[in-house]
Amino acid sequence: MNNNLIIQISDLNKNYNDDNDTNIEIIKNLNFNLKANSKVSIIGPSGSGKTTFLNILGLLDKEFNGNFFFKQKDISMITETETNKIRGSSIGFIHQFFHLIPELTVIENVMLPLLINKHDSKSYQISKKILIEFGLGERINFKPLKLSGGEQQRVAIARSLVNNPDLILADEMTGNLDEDTANSIFSFFINYIEQNKKTLVYVTHNKKYSLLADEIYQFKNKKIQLINE
Ligand SMILES: Nc1ncnc2c1ncn2[C@@H]1O[C@H](COP(=O)(O)OP(=O)(O)OP(=O)(O)O)[C@@H](O)[C@H]1O
Ligand SMILES: [Mg+2]
Repeated sequence: MNNNLIIQISDLNKNYNDDNDTNIEIIKNLNFNLKANSKVSIIGPSGSGKTTFLNILGLLDKEFNGNFFFKQKDISMITETETNKIRGSSIGFIHQFFHLIPELTVIENVMLPLLINKHDSKSYQISKKILIEFGLGERINFKPLKLSGGEQQRVAIARSLVNNPDLILADEMTGNLDEDTANSIFSFFINYIEQNKKTLVYVTHNKKYSLLADEIYQFKNKKIQLINE
């Protein structure tokens, strides 16, 4: 076992059933090791399996075949409760469509992961601090729909980081923003990841962003292939 690896995956296979109950193979014999403190990008055509793979990495989907060790723990051997605990404390997810809860204010959205993990007493202060760091100090009591797209995405990023997870998974996180906003959010985000020594796996359609990774993988033939050796 290599303690420097956060994730070790071998022989991963993932199938879906379509509406006619036909089995479709999305991932076949995929192998992947994720080093701590590294930045990894994943590119590939629409429908190639990037989101499917990210959901598996993030322990959102355990319906697969193969070997998956998360920090030396065999994922197939742990309970649902333990899975949720690992996900809540170690993994932050950022989606293309921000998935903020419209009824809650900005700070309430950011506090959610802390409340789920029961850090009640300090959750307001912790959330406020990260929102100030993200330039949203004046917006904490706004509802998400009163924010611009870029601001909403910064709230979603703050929410994914508030628990201080060591692994961040981002699925086309700037795909829904105009180019200038996307550029500034992405560079701010990458900076944060580097300064705080996080591990990052991000899916992107943007070649320029993919090049900022230490390792660039492309989905091809139902698996990912390293393309920057
Ligand atoms: N729940 C599901 N049931 C059946 N098929 C699914 C399901 N989710 C995804 N698929 C299929 O799996 C394939 C891969 O989907 P996935 O969302 O992983 O692609 P992607 O690479 O993220 O694409 P995009 O770049 O468009 O986001 C697609 O053909 C999709 O139709
Ligand atoms: Mg996708």
